[in-house]
Amino acid sequence: MRKKIIAGNWKMHKTYKEGIALVEDCIKLAEKEKIKEVEIIFCTPFIHLRKISKLTDNIKHINTGAQNCHWEEQGAFTGEISCSMIKSCGAAYVILGHSERRQYFNETHEQLTKKVTAALKHDLTPIFCCGEPLEIREANTHIELIGKQIRESLFHLDKEMITKVVIAYEPVWAIGTGKTATTEQAQEMHAFIRKTLAHHYDFETAESISILYGGSCKPSNAKELFSQPDVDGGLIGGAALQVEDFIALANSF
Ligand code: PGA
Repeated sequence: MRKKIIAGNWKMHKTYKEGIALVEDCIKLAEKEKIKEVEIIFCTPFIHLRKISKLTDNIKHINTGAQNCHWEEQGAFTGEISCSMIKSCGAAYVILGHSERRQYFNETHEQLTKKVTAALKHDLTPIFCCGEPLEIREANTHIELIGKQIRESLFHLDKEMITKVVIAYEPVWAIGTGKTATTEQAQEMHAFIRKTLAHHYDFETAESISILYGGSCKPSNAKELFSQPDVDGGLIGGAALQVEDFIALANSF
């Protein structure tokens, strides 16, 4: 059975105090709502990781993650953070290849390949993001681009390693825009990603990998999206910053 996941990507939001309060309130509400079958992940700025990992330590289905990492173990890379540093804070996940990092920080697939390898080496689960910008969707070449993003940054992994990766399909035109992909568009791309994995690895391997949808996912559209056979949850930006919305999303399966 594939894991059902709701991962909140806080991006550059929340001060230390605000972040801790948000998590404490989410934990309380998740408990009240008796959410147990869905894994809830807080992908926070680095400053929150240690404290939030402590808060979620005893809760099996709630975890923390970072939003980026460097591929080197250590060294003269001012402003960067290594996987072992992230791991030492208690995090279990790291978002890699988010479109904002590709776009504003020029992350390349060569770098992403190295980041994926480094994360897995340190027992951090990569939440690997792929997705097409609007012009690619309009040119109808999105399938090719997503196939390329998956192949170039993930196919160096062997079968055992790829099963440790979570994939997030996030059409760039839907991120933070209020414009969600239709359920048909999401399902089509998720099925394509799974087929691509099955083709390179095998059916069982592809079936075991969780593929999340991201891009203006909110309580009003989540149920329909998550009901699709290849959509295993969501990577959530804006709606992860509010307790009720985020927990309502975890309650949308
Ligand atoms: P959004 O962001 O939910 O605010 O569209 C999603 C993401 O960037 O992961």
